[in-house]
Amino acid sequence: MMKILVTGGLGFIGSHTCVELLNANYEVVIIDNLSNSSIDVLEKLEEITSKRPKFYEIDACNKEKVSVVFKENKIDAVIHFAGYKAVGESVSEPLKYYRNNLDSTLTLLEVMKEYSCHNFVFSSSATVYGTPKELPIKEDFPLSTTNPYGTTKLMIERILQDVSKADKDLSIIVLRYFNPIGAHPSGLIGENPNGIPNNLMPYIVRVADKELPTLSVFGNDYNTHDGTGVRDYIHVVDLAKGHLKALEKVVNFKGIEYYNLGTGKGYSVLDLVNTFEKVNNVKVPYKIVDRRPGDIDACYADPTKAYEKLGFKAEYGIEDMCRDSYNYILKNKESQK
Ligand code: WQD
Repeated sequence: MMKILVTGGLGFIGSHTCVELLNANYEVVIIDNLSNSSIDVLEKLEEITSKRPKFYEIDACNKEKVSVVFKENKIDAVIHFAGYKAVGESVSEPLKYYRNNLDSTLTLLEVMKEYSCHNFVFSSSATVYGTPKELPIKEDFPLSTTNPYGTTKLMIERILQDVSKADKDLSIIVLRYFNPIGAHPSGLIGENPNGIPNNLMPYIVRVADKELPTLSVFGNDYNTHDGTGVRDYIHVVDLAKGHLKALEKVVNFKGIEYYNLGTGKGYSVLDLVNTFEKVNNVKVPYKIVDRRPGDIDACYADPTKAYEKLGFKAEYGIEDMCRDSYNYILKNKESQK
């Protein structure tokens, strides 16, 4: 049975990937410093899968502690989710982002080398494409970034490229996520950012649940079908399953490969609001406000390469994403009573 180290494994995408790994009979070891996740998720993973992954509450930047994990466990592959990911925060605190996102990756790669672990799956982002020259976006498009968060992802991709050239034993897969939303159908795990959400779906959910009064729609003068921003929303469970496909591939090749994980379909802000209202029979009051600096008109993937090379195809639709996102919040309200 292969043993997989999942960094950030109690986070939004990490926890959903751990569910799929455990259900597929991988042994899972999680490291997480709980800076943007909760220890409660560990119990939820056991409740969903009837298996309890090994957990270390450590920072992936701490080389001494990461080495202990590799000393105590024969790790066959690493899936690296741990990292800060709030675009706005990265603009106001760039050093925090460069230190954490780069350091954790360099530490993992060094310890992997010391323990002859050769398989690495990296959580990257469609943000590395910047403002795409055309749509849909293919993996060989030019890369550019407009905020420190995106630049950390691009810099890490460059580091992985160089490390791959130097170390022929390494197998690296870089997954570029589009917009992950939704939650596990059980409602036991999902996306619950601290504070006021930056991203669209967590904000919609809080407005629907009357925690926040109104959704601000950042601009309706974009070059899209209804003027509001278009994105490729992918269900987080589909995204998690994409990591299992990447794992199957990474242990069977040498070198480095890049894959978009998206549905290939674009939906606007108002498409999402209208679908959310219909599916959940709730109202989401909104107002049109100015554009958010740095936002692009539209962004959606060409998912062909992941389909042809990984056998990955997203199966959940936008209705499922809206239903599961709201179900998670409703279930969690119950459990907090
Ligand atoms: C989606 C659309 C907004 C909030 C970001 C990161 C990306 C990835 C996913 C980490 C846009 C609009 C949003 C709101 C709105 N994160 N919007 N009102 O910006 O596409 O991607 O999150 O990997 O790296 O860049 O996602 O959810 O913030 O915005 O109108 O309150 O919703 O303008 O059109 P984004 P988002």
